[in-house]
Amino acid sequence: MSDPTRPPAVGVLDQGPAITFPPGFLWGAATAAYQIEGAATAGGRTPSIWDTFSHTEGRTVGGHTGDVACDHFHRMPDDVRLMAELGLKSYRFSVSWPRVQPGGSGAANAEGLDFYRRLVDELLGHGIEPWLTLYHWDLPQPLEDAGGWPARDTAARFADYAQLVADALGDRVRYWTTLNEPWCSAFLGYGSGAHAPGRTDGADAVRAGHHLMLGHGLAVQALRASRPDAQLGITVNLYPVTPATDSPADADAARRIDALANRFFLDPVLRGSYPADLQADLASVTDFGHVRDGDLEIISTPLDLVGINYYSRHVVAAPVEGEQPEAYWRAPTCWPGSEDVRFVTRGVPVTDMDWEIDAPGLVETLERVHRDYTDLPLYVTENGSAFVDTVVDGQVDDTDRLAYFDSHLRAAHAAIGAGVPLRGYFAWSLMDNFEWAWGYTKRFGMVYVDYDSQVRIPKSSARWYAEVIRRNGLAAQ
Ligand code: FCB
Repeated sequence: MSDPTRPPAVGVLDQGPAITFPPGFLWGAATAAYQIEGAATAGGRTPSIWDTFSHTEGRTVGGHTGDVACDHFHRMPDDVRLMAELGLKSYRFSVSWPRVQPGGSGAANAEGLDFYRRLVDELLGHGIEPWLTLYHWDLPQPLEDAGGWPARDTAARFADYAQLVADALGDRVRYWTTLNEPWCSAFLGYGSGAHAPGRTDGADAVRAGHHLMLGHGLAVQALRASRPDAQLGITVNLYPVTPATDSPADADAARRIDALANRFFLDPVLRGSYPADLQADLASVTDFGHVRDGDLEIISTPLDLVGINYYSRHVVAAPVEGEQPEAYWRAPTCWPGSEDVRFVTRGVPVTDMDWEIDAPGLVETLERVHRDYTDLPLYVTENGSAFVDTVVDGQVDDTDRLAYFDSHLRAAHAAIGAGVPLRGYFAWSLMDNFEWAWGYTKRFGMVYVDYDSQVRIPKSSARWYAEVIRRNGLAAQ
């Protein structure tokens, strides 16, 4: 619920910004291929794990699939025009691996690559900086059939694919993200099974996490060699993890979940090692025999930036006999070796995903990465919220989403004030789309999509964001 005592942010903006972001701050919005493109069989595209998963009964709400999604594949020029109208400085999109390299190996598919060439040209033509994510979860199905991310060879396949995309687009794309949220690919895909490919094996999830990072490191090396001027990074989804009470047992629960959610990725990529406590916690799950000599050097190949996706905070407590948490990322199977840790809700306002709204958590997260890990430029590559939207007289007044963006941008600004080199912010998402296992039942867009007619309606939050971008800042509260 929005706070009724809070002044209307749009109106207050008219008085001029009181909070200004650094010059050149990169204001953007993000999407992902499978969530918006549709055209699942067009131009030689073959199935990814998400096609298979969403077409399997009982995997997604309502049996929804990305077959059509926002039909962005066919409506791309109009969608880019909309981005230009909003004044976006940058657009973060992902390339569909099975569109540009059907089956996940062998030659490039010219028709698939051509779509991204046209997209990038369209963006550049409108003065919008393209930001390309190589992997936003759509592994070609044959690679899953050959073992998926728990299999080491998938990392090599990913580096080949990265090279192929760099060859085609490297001359016009400056910003590259290798992986989006490897935690989700590994622990939701192979641990809880809530995401494609829907497997449920803790050891496989840990192996998948390692091979995803190995693929990231190999891809960075390939991209660096062929495009020395590119800005290369990875995007991780991070959560502050807070103990429910100050008891030592709850503190230990928080330490464990922090290791699995955050340090599992931050330490190898930015320090070249796995945390010792993580390895000890996972002793009953895996002996880390899948980690070979030299892997961590590859995984920690230097980057130019770090992308952070921020949505919420985890509040956790020590196990209580007989009590188990339930669904989604709170599912015990997401957390190998720490299955019995409880995820606690605090009764604070939540979004339509039931995720607690916690803007200070963004400051904490950014400060932590900067303080504990790196001086590299940081970018919020995703941040946003789902709320139920209603169209009234052709308009969508999404006050709650607007307030969410507003509070998190204030948090981003506070982090900059505290010395964090935050260089940009990408709203999730440009438009409503296929929200994975939730299908089309959760709306994250700043632009409303009517899935029957494919009409797009910029919501109040989109108009507000356009104004924020135009002024490079926010009004005083
Ligand atoms: C992130 C994903 C993105 C979207 C948002 C809500 O975990 O990267 O695709 O689903 O959550």
